Formats: sequence, C-alpha cells, structure tokens
Amino acid sequence: MNTTPVVELTEALALNLSGLPADAAQALSETLLTIAQACAAISEVAAQGALAGAHGLASSSNSQGEDQKKLDVMADDVLSAAMAACPHVAGWASEEHEMPFVSDEHGNQGRYLVVFDPLDGSSNIEANISVGTIFSVLPHPYRGTTPGEMGFLQPGQQQVAAGYVLYGPCTVMVLTCRQGVQMFTLDRSSLRGEGPARWVLTQSEVRIPVATREFAINASNQRFWEKPVQRYVAECIAGESGPRHKDFNMRWVASMVAEVHRIMTRGGVFMYPRDEREPRKAGRLRHMYEASPMALLVEQAGGRAVNGTHDLLEVVPDTLHQRVPVLLGSKEEIDRIVSYHADPHENVSWQLFKTRSLFVQPQA
Ligand code: AHG
Ligand code: MN
Ligand code: MN
Repeated sequence: MNTTPVVELTEALALNLSGLPADAAQALSETLLTIAQACAAISEVAAQGALAGAHGLASSSNSQGEDQKKLDVMADDVLSAAMAACPHVAGWASEEHEMPFVSDEHGNQGRYLVVFDPLDGSSNIEANISVGTIFSVLPHPYRGTTPGEMGFLQPGQQQVAAGYVLYGPCTVMVLTCRQGVQMFTLDRSSLRGEGPARWVLTQSEVRIPVATREFAINASNQRFWEKPVQRYVAECIAGESGPRHKDFNMRWVASMVAEVHRIMTRGGVFMYPRDEREPRKAGRLRHMYEASPMALLVEQAGGRAVNGTHDLLEVVPDTLHQRVPVLLGSKEEIDRIVSYHADPHENVSWQLFKTRSLFVQPQA
C-alpha cells in the first residue's frame, strides 16, 4: 500500500512561501494558483485538439510579425483573462502582444507583473507533439503607480517565481519560488468536476545532473552558429575518438518546454545560440518569457543558463520582446561552453574541427 502523503499545489506553496511576510505569501500563492488554473484550461483545449477548433492558423500575426496559430490565440486569451481578474497582478505582457497590459482595477496596487509565452512550440500543435506555457512573475517596481513597459525590463534575478507547464502525454507544471524546483502533475479527473483543477506534487526536489552525454540544438542552423558553439558541438559528435573521449546523443523537439523538461528529468544541454543570419537579432528565443524564467528554473535545479559569456539571470533586457542566445542545462557542460567563449585561442582551436560537419565526416 502506498502511504506517501499526497501534497497538492496549495499546500506546497504554503510551505515554499513560509519565509515571506503573510500578505506577500498569500498574494504570490494566489497569483500562482490563478496561473495554474488558466494552464489547466489550456491543457483541456490542447487535449481536445481539432475537436476544440484548436488546430490551424489564426489568420493574424503576433507582436513580432509571426503567424499565430489558433491555439496561440486561445492560450493567450485564457491567460490574459486570468491575469485581468487576479487582484495581485498590476500588469502582464505576452509574446502575442507588442505592448504590456495594465490591470484596470489593480494597476496601482497589484504586487506583481506577469510575463508569459502562452504557447511555446506552436509549430508542433498539428503534429500532436508536446507544447507548453512559460511564465515569469516579477515584482511591480513602482507600486502606487501603474507599470509602464520600463517596469517589466528587470533582470531575471528579480523574478519571485517562474515556471512552465508541459502539455504532453500528461500535463506537468514545473515551478520555482526560489526555494528549489518542484514538479506537479495535473489530475485530469479533477477537470470533470466543478472545483479548481487539482495539481499533485510528484517530484519535490528537482535536480539536474551535473554531467551529461546529451545535447539539443537545431542542426540545420550549423553554418550560422557562433564559433565556440561550433567547437562544442563538433567535439560532442566526434564522440569516443574525439577530445571528449565519450559518445554523445542528440535531440531536437522544437518545443523549448519539452527540451527543458527532458533536461530537468535526466540532464542534458539545450542551445539556441547567437546566430550570424541577422546579427542584430541575438538568437531566436525571447529573453523575458522564454530565457529568463527557464534560467531561474535551471539554476534553482542546480544547472546553469548563460548567453555564452554571462549568466542569463544577470542580463538586463532593453525591450519586452528582446531576443537572447540561450545555452542551458547540466552545469559541467555549460561551464565548458562558457570557457570556450572566454578562450582567446578559440578560433585557433576551431581550426582543428572546421572540416568536420554534423553530417560529413572529414576524410581520413
Ligand atoms: P514559439 O512557439 O513560442 O514561437 O517558440 C518556439 C521556440 C522554442 O520553443 C523552440 O526551441 C524553437 O522556437 C524552435 O525553433 P526552430 O523552429 O528554429 O527549431
Ligand atoms: Mn516560445
Ligand atoms: Mn509562443
């Protein structure tokens, strides 16, 4: 008989936030429960798929001119409505909107600003591959006045909480309130009732193994990668006979939430590096609602998250939708990648590998 006590999200939050003043703990707990409830609703729509009209393009584009999928829009609507109704949220910002929103009722006094990627990995929706939601909770820095865009532009280090929800074979929320990382599984049977969704703690101290033999990168961009990343990947694929003296495995789901979740469960490295295609765009991923929350989660789980040279949590964004190179995962490997960025002879080292591509091995 399983005698392990069942811990639900509300209870886990009470324990996690016990070090905060009571009013702050209550406000943060209610904010996170609101986000969790919205994500449970998104999970239902995602699981209904075509039956919920959630497949296909929405015939609109987002803040960055990218085509929106119907599920991008639906997920954004659900989260935005939840934020508007939450008394602790002064304002919120989404990948899907150029400008942040200020709460009509709580813009002055709400404690928090919430930033989110309502649906990450949306190119995967029709293929029925896992997608997710990423969220970041920041303090409202000018309480007493309504927050403008500047209020949102805080380094990741300021986040009071961050998390993601993975809509996979099961729906899982991975959350940090800066007291380590916890994993909760959505009890889908609770969605049939009238009450709130039930999230059950299924892993209490998530730790990313410091060493790994697995990396994830979109290899079709190889020719554009910055040199230290070229070197790192070339050394990995050289395997047993290369300078690392061990074989590596490679994965690419194209849903960052799914990649980070794999790293949370068994270690690994995820990279979307600086890219030479458009030098003014530093990588593909967005700082505030992709890189920054994932960086806090990864660091809280004992991993590391950098832009190549600096910890992502230190980076102060200039704009809401700023892009940033992202290299995160098992600490030993990220330390190595950072050392390659710092190596003044890096270009010399790279000469050893420049004839080696991912798909064409050099002639013996
Ligand atoms: P989004 O669907 O929110 O635009 O994000 C997709 C991101 C990320 O999840 C993934 O790692 C990456 O884009 C995939 O990029 P490629 O299509 O270049 O592989
Ligand atoms: Mn995304
Ligand atoms: Mn998205």
